[in-house]
Amino acid sequence: MARRKAKRKNKQEKIRPKRIDANAARQDPKKELKISAIGEGTVIDHIPTDATFKVAEILGLESHNGVVSIATSLQSKSIGKKGIVKVAGKSLTQEEVNKISIVAPNATVNIIKNYAVREKIKVKSPEVIDNVVKCSNPVCITNNEKIPTKFFVVRKDPLKIKCHYCERSMGKEDIEII
Ligand code: CTP
Ligand code: ZN
Repeated sequence: MARRKAKRKNKQEKIRPKRIDANAARQDPKKELKISAIGEGTVIDHIPTDATFKVAEILGLESHNGVVSIATSLQSKSIGKKGIVKVAGKSLTQEEVNKISIVAPNATVNIIKNYAVREKIKVKSPEVIDNVVKCSNPVCITNNEKIPTKFFVVRKDPLKIKCHYCERSMGKEDIEII
């Protein structure tokens, strides 16, 4: 009895793909769908493609209420492959822009008002990173006492930073944002 029931359940859950017209895309002259423009908010452009989700994490977009669009591996003339993050209904704080600059040193932050780009900010990577990155050294004082972290930027691209307290060097792959 139980087996029959399970069998019926499986049948119900079988996925039936909807047939689509394979010629439909070919008939569309643009052949692609671009991420739609936003009315009010922020577009972070020219993100190195592998840092795109890091940017989303820095901005806490998982819990953002407005529309969020994230695209990776887009073609860019200046940086090869790039990512874009579009966030409707959000403006960034200076602190958020500073954090973004650590993982995306060439990013552009576009402020959108009434569907137009009102301001275009080129992020600047800081010389000193205060209380943004966690030190990867478990015995570092910042991991054991309530002391804000502090790193000096040794090299900007590819990023290399050095902890002010324990002198641990870290590359972009070691970076964990606080
Ligand atoms: N954008 C958007 N919604 C709008 C206006 C712009 O999502 N209402 C996006 C565009 O898709 C683009 C970015 O914001 O990714 C910047 O727009 P714009 O300055 O018009 O594009 P570009 O000239 O390509 O920017 P850049 O010179 O910085 O490469
Ligand atoms: Zn340290």
